[in-house]
Amino acid sequence: MKLDPKTMQLVQHLSTSVLVVDKNLEVLFANPSAEALMEVSINRLIGSHLPELFISCSLPVSHLYRALVQTTNFSDSEVQIVFPDGRHILVELAITNFVANDDRALILEIKQIDQQKRISKENIQWTQQQAAKELVRGLAHEIKNPLGGLRGAAQLLGKQLQSAELQEFTDMIIEQADRLRNLVDRLLGPNKPPNFQLHNVHEVMEKIRSLLELDEISQTTITRDYDPSIPNLWIDSDKIQQAVLNIARNSMQALEGQGEIKFVTRIERQLTIHGVRYPLCVQIKIIDNGPGIPPKLKDTLFYPMVTTKNDGTGLGLSIAQNMVDHHKGKIEVTSWPGHTEFTIYLPIIEHKEQH
Ligand SMILES: Nc1ncnc2c1ncn2[C@@H]1O[C@H](COP(=O)(O)OP(=O)(O)O)[C@@H](O)[C@H]1O
Ligand SMILES: [Mg+2]
Repeated sequence: MKLDPKTMQLVQHLSTSVLVVDKNLEVLFANPSAEALMEVSINRLIGSHLPELFISCSLPVSHLYRALVQTTNFSDSEVQIVFPDGRHILVELAITNFVANDDRALILEIKQIDQQKRISKENIQWTQQQAAKELVRGLAHEIKNPLGGLRGAAQLLGKQLQSAELQEFTDMIIEQADRLRNLVDRLLGPNKPPNFQLHNVHEVMEKIRSLLELDEISQTTITRDYDPSIPNLWIDSDKIQQAVLNIARNSMQALEGQGEIKFVTRIERQLTIHGVRYPLCVQIKIIDNGPGIPPKLKDTLFYPMVTTKNDGTGLGLSIAQNMVDHHKGKIEVTSWPGHTEFTIYLPIIEHKEQH
């Protein structure tokens, strides 16, 4: 594609990455910023088939073809791209129809979402999660009180009834009320205050590993990559165990008996969690090579009752989040087909009282 020298100079200096693709999604043009973003030289980019430049992209390629056919323009504020070397980035993308070499073409403007924006997005998500949690909590309490009354009344009524046939109905009310209370209790989650003790995080991880191996007869292998320099932590080991177990069980289920789970621990310095900066944090990663988290769950993954399983409760991750919140930590997720990575960050606190 030929551009006049002035336009060329302009496009060369844009901080936005620009790619032009023809109707077969072959690259006709790329600017230096695109070269830097893709880590592929312009010469190699030109003529490449766009979908072959990455191994996964959260925007289906069919959307590009559709834009070409319908000559419509569109944009997406959050697209995840994974490159063949495993590097993954979040970008904003704008697609505009264009005529190049007398044929239909698309201009792709790509802008990487920077750290700052990611953090603000994270904060919004966290606030939303907290709001959802409050809502569920409030609702659960509102259900529990009248439910108790309902059950009590049915019990009294049952005692007055002579006929066993009619008692069946009061039994049914009691049974269903119990079922509902069970659900509500699970929604509210364990409400025991945390009991912080000094623990070696790897002992907790090893316990989880043996628990997983117990409840799984399959061939899933669990590999470990621990950082032995991690000091003992003030944690509630039961709560951390529950959090990691919930995440790892999901991995097990996603792998359906074939694949690998990796436990990784690391130290991270100077990390901000929900607005507080900590000099030292521990990272616990649970990585699997399963099918990946369904994209439609992206924004609600940690909400209670969000599940894709027929027999799922959708409470596992919401509880894990709760447990980690008790430790002033956070959970992050990145996922694409073939790779799902949950990272739990726990601040390293020197004195128990700081919790
Ligand atoms: N490692 C994973 N791989 C693929 N999907 C996952 C993974 N972890 C969680 N998910 C998705 O998140 C959903 C919610 O998980 P969770 O809160 O534990 O509830 P449940 O396991 O009862 O469905 C799951 O139904 C599944 O779709
Ligand atoms: Mg689960």
